Amino acid sequence: MADKKFKFETRAIHIGNEADLETGSVSSPIYLTSTYLQDGVGKDRGFDYSRGTNPTRKRLEGNITSLENGTDAIAFSSGMAATTALFQTLNKGDNIIISRNVYGGTYRMVTRVLSRQGLYFDFVDTRDLSQIQKRIRPETKLVFIETPTNPLLELTDIHAVADLCKGANIMLTVDNTFMSPYGQRPLDLGADCVMHSSTKYIGGHSDVLGGVLVTRNDELASQLHFIQKSGGAVPSPFDCWLLLRSTKTLALRVKKASKNALALAQMLDAHPAVVNTIYPGLESHPQHRLAKRQQKTPSGKSIYGSIISITLESKKKCDNFLSKSTVFTLAESLGGVESLVCVPYEMTHADVPTETKKSMGLIPELIRLSVGVEHIDDLMADIERALET
Ligand SMILES: Cc1ncc(COP(=O)(O)O)c(C=O)c1O
Repeated sequence: MADKKFKFETRAIHIGNEADLETGSVSSPIYLTSTYLQDGVGKDRGFDYSRGTNPTRKRLEGNITSLENGTDAIAFSSGMAATTALFQTLNKGDNIIISRNVYGGTYRMVTRVLSRQGLYFDFVDTRDLSQIQKRIRPETKLVFIETPTNPLLELTDIHAVADLCKGANIMLTVDNTFMSPYGQRPLDLGADCVMHSSTKYIGGHSDVLGGVLVTRNDELASQLHFIQKSGGAVPSPFDCWLLLRSTKTLALRVKKASKNALALAQMLDAHPAVVNTIYPGLESHPQHRLAKRQQKTPSGKSIYGSIISITLESKKKCDNFLSKSTVFTLAESLGGVESLVCVPYEMTHADVPTETKKSMGLIPELIRLSVGVEHIDDLMADIERALET
């Protein structure tokens, strides 16, 4: 399929999903094979061993490359495997500037594993460009930002940071998990690499773990393919197929979930039992204007995602909320068709030191909602019931 001339929704369905040439199967085949027949020593048919490459994985990588407007994608067995592979492109002594409230698992990996191996991480409030500028030194090789962040929904201006990085010859990677390629395309804003936990919106059904890196930089792509093959943290052919199946409905799911979230955020914001509602689509969000400008559907409409964080008066009220809600399931993760609720302080961010959490405003009374695609009336009624004391 000639990629560029088609719109996002069409590419999501067709790129990587071309009918099987041999049988005509419309659904992409799953190549459950670890190895491949060779016609002679060194004469393979483009595939030799599935850690290196696999046809189903190649189809998935092609699909996500297209959705992020990249030139190559490298798929991994989880979001953390993708992030780790990215950091493995760096050398001992290199410095990385990283958003101060990245996902707790990223924090754990960089502070407890990679820092022991000679990489230096500076946690910075990347909302403020001058904070990044101040930390740049000759050893700085990468700026890694998450926008919006998990779960405080702080935004970083991707275009502004990309300009700064280009001037200083530093790579910029954006963890785009919270927006998905439908809601934000960082390569178009100047980033060098995009990371996704495809476990979230890309998978969309809470049934598969995955991660992916997308870039337009051939040298970085070839380094990452090498790490993918060498480290072997690759997704199984079946997982690749599930993800390929899921991106077909990415636009529909993200659009509907974001619409639901905006309506719920407005309701929560006006609710007397809620102390604070954090949602980039609300005018009260301090970076609403940036969200409006930066977070856009492929057709250019502003979109604010489907994560809402709220704070309640006390831990007891949070427990009451969790026990009364029946539509929102208490579980980690986000971005699925089903609505989930979690308490990041004790769940996703359990490994972040208490002082660090408090300094960022991540308190035990904060609840994160991942809004799904259920009927809005049921979601509203459920929240109303959960907020009753
Ligand atoms: C923003 C963000 N980045 C990365 C990850 C890690 O992804 P995975 O759980 O697929 O390893 C997560 C997981 O929750 C996340 O929310």
